[in-house]
Amino acid sequence: MDSLTATLERMPQLRADIDAHPGRFRMLTGERPTGPLHLGHLFGSVLERVRLQNLGIETFIVIADYQVITDRATSANVHNNVLEAMLDYLAAGIDPTRTTIFTHSAIPALNQLLLPFLSLVTDSELRRNPTVKSELAASGRPLSGLLLTYPVHQAADILFCKGNLVPVGKDNLPHVEITRTIARRFNERYGSDSGAIFPEPEALLTTTPELPGLDGRKMSKSYGNAISLGMSADETAAVIRRTQTDSQRHITFDPDNRPGVSALLSTASVCTGESPEAIAATIADAGAGALKNHVAEVVNDYLADHRSRRAELEADPAEVRRILAAGNQRANAIAEATLAEVRTAMGMDY
Ligand code: TRP
Repeated sequence: MDSLTATLERMPQLRADIDAHPGRFRMLTGERPTGPLHLGHLFGSVLERVRLQNLGIETFIVIADYQVITDRATSANVHNNVLEAMLDYLAAGIDPTRTTIFTHSAIPALNQLLLPFLSLVTDSELRRNPTVKSELAASGRPLSGLLLTYPVHQAADILFCKGNLVPVGKDNLPHVEITRTIARRFNERYGSDSGAIFPEPEALLTTTPELPGLDGRKMSKSYGNAISLGMSADETAAVIRRTQTDSQRHITFDPDNRPGVSALLSTASVCTGESPEAIAATIADAGAGALKNHVAEVVNDYLADHRSRRAELEADPAEVRRILAAGNQRANAIAEATLAEVRTAMGMDY
């Protein structure tokens, strides 16, 4: 059985365990600060984190700044993207009194875990990671040492705080798998009778189907098909209006043959909770213009509260920096404690 099938089979039980015993879990997840967060991030991952946080699960979010330079030659914009992501997390309901938000470049002890962890994996294990392979192909650049080894660095992101629950999309499953392997091998090699040092974390797969961009492709800022959470209502209406539709006036939901119309319907659907088919039936012969007006209205309604909270935070950058600094401080304390344990286990505590 491959790991995707195994993970999917495990999901119902894992979800039941989470609901019954949220206190048993420590969740670590995050993303690379490569651009502004958009509606796809909000529905695909951020709202689920808020839900888990509110269930009482101790939560860590890494803004994975070192992961940005795995496949690109510049760190321009990273600083700004980190602060923008902070605004969106906080506006979406991530509560810094319950969730630790940190950037991995600020946590030296986390990064130091990379050294012993690298000794636990082989070159061929690293080279066969399918996500690394596709990122390498997409980058059009030679394989950097960091791109090859970043899944091990991601294991350090997860294990520094002994996270045992990792909400991710399918493409990050190989990284959770290598994390489990590293935890197991570390425990075998250096653990004592008194017990394991690291847990073998479980992936919690996102169940919501991916929200497509407005052209039906993957939602991404670089395709110009994304509704960023930080856009104004007018900018939002403008990107929606630019969506390429087709010459058929009657509106139907048909993602394969009508990508633009269907993406608009999916976008409205996530905001109102109505099915895309039902929305299509309401618009019917009123055509694409009416559909776009409807989508702009429901998206802007849905995001109105998020945006007003976001604007308030944006007006107080010192407070946002203070929250990040506090998260980094807390992550540092935890990483130093874990590294101390690792040094002791390895007999390197001088
Ligand atoms: N690789 C993740 C992404 O593609 C980001 C990430 C970095 C992450 N460290 C993590 C996700 C640890 C989960 C756990 O966006």
